[in-house]
Amino acid sequence: MNAPTVRRAAGAADRAFIERCGIESLGSSLSPLRDAPIEALRMNFLRLLDVVHSRSHAILVAADGDLRLGFALLVFDLPDEVTGLAQAFLAYMAVEVGQRGHGVGTLLLAACEEEARRHGTPYLGLMVTEGNSAAQRLYDRAGYRTERRLLGKSV
Ligand SMILES: CC(C)(COP(=O)(O)OP(=O)(O)OC[C@H]1O[C@@H](n2cnc3c(N)ncnc32)[C@H](O)[C@@H]1OP(=O)(O)O)[C@@H](O)C(=O)NCCC(=O)NCCS
Repeated sequence: MNAPTVRRAAGAADRAFIERCGIESLGSSLSPLRDAPIEALRMNFLRLLDVVHSRSHAILVAADGDLRLGFALLVFDLPDEVTGLAQAFLAYMAVEVGQRGHGVGTLLLAACEEEARRHGTPYLGLMVTEGNSAAQRLYDRAGYRTERRLLGKSV
């Protein structure tokens, strides 16, 4: 791999890549507590893309030349639910399965932070699923810390 770069998503080819790469990676975000068919995750991801597009947002794509490697979905108008303070929210990010472990996720996350600062929301929030150790390590290494916990139980 050469040195990948990050740019804003533009056009239908990026959209097709984001849909495919996103859908292929969704299993990592399925909570061990929830029994959901993969089709539900697929439909929900497509809904998420529509929601992101309907809000103040940025979509970043990491690429090595013409080869797309990963993407990140950032939303700017979802304030922290407790304080109401402005934040950029990382709605989702993913790297192509065969391209992981080469720093693309780290690069995308740094680009999201830069984008948040550029947008005047110098705080980046995100959620990560219990058991998604690859993502948890990435965020931990980058300095992200747990603010609160999302609990659930079958009743
Ligand atoms: C989480 C995810 C985005 C990480 O992407 P990635 O490109 O593999 O991330 P990085 O390469 O930056 O870091 C992963 C590992 O590669 C290592 N690495 C980073 N740069 C490297 C390099 N140049 N050479 C070798 N290894 C490298 C990191 O140290 C890290 O190792 P570790 O996980 O064992 O600690 C990816 O696993 C993914 O798409 N997962 C599915 C979707 C998902 O879970 N998204 C998060 C939703 S919250």
